[in-house]
Amino acid sequence: MAGMLIDAKGINTYYGASHILRGVDFQVGRGETIGLMGRNGMGKSTLLKSLMGLVKPRAGSVHIAGKDMTGRAPYEIAQLGIAYVPEGRGIFGNLSVVENLKMAARAGTRGQRDWTYERVLDTFPRLKERLGHGGQQLSGGEQQMLTIGRALMTNPDVLILDEATEGLAPLIAREIWRICGVIRETGISSVIVDKNWKHVTQITGRNVILVKGEVVFAGTSDELRSRPQLLEQYLGV
Ligand SMILES: Nc1ncnc2c1ncn2[C@@H]1O[C@H](COP(=O)(O)OP(=O)(O)OP(=O)(O)O)[C@@H](O)[C@H]1O
Ligand SMILES: [Mg+2]
Repeated sequence: MAGMLIDAKGINTYYGASHILRGVDFQVGRGETIGLMGRNGMGKSTLLKSLMGLVKPRAGSVHIAGKDMTGRAPYEIAQLGIAYVPEGRGIFGNLSVVENLKMAARAGTRGQRDWTYERVLDTFPRLKERLGHGGQQLSGGEQQMLTIGRALMTNPDVLILDEATEGLAPLIAREIWRICGVIRETGISSVIVDKNWKHVTQITGRNVILVKGEVVFAGTSDELRSRPQLLEQYLGV
């Protein structure tokens, strides 16, 4: 599709002999916030890794901002404005909050520097209070904020968050959702993987549900909310 930031078609990904993704199509348009849902082990993280070049699909294509990036290296995909925050936390524990943020800084694909160090700190007041702390001295929620802050410092066109609220106290999870809303308002596209469909659909326009590596639902948040049988069948709620 023209104008898509991410346009993946017919993705088939394997781990050894295990066929995980079975012909997945996945698109992200400019300014879109998309939910990616499904029970444990259904292939959500594998799809994100396939988009990022971290695992190589055996069949299918991945176009990023109109360029065929199928089979290309993760850094090349990141350079096209795709910031990926994986499951777990990817910060440098021996560096301070300031260092973690500043080393990630760069202009975006259109030269934009909307997300400065100051703006990231304004968005994450908790980090502002912990600037000199080492990464390993932060709580789980603060580490998650730092990972998202680092991703924003790259001025991405698309921010991909894999289970950013996993294992966090409700109050901290709420803070992450608030930040997702702030990010959406700035026009950055997001892909949000999360188990909490209520929170997801409050913020997303479109959603995709995976079951055993296949897309079983792709539609708007309104559509999903109005069909509770889908939620029960595919998400087990
Ligand atoms: N590196 C790997 N090697 C072999 N199998 C893997 C590997 N990573 C994941 N898998 C398997 O692939 C399937 C999909 O895993 P994936 O991590 O994509 O699921 P998920 O939807 O992200 O699940 P969760 O909600 O638990 O994070 C699972 O059956 C998993 O066990
Ligand atoms: Mg996962």
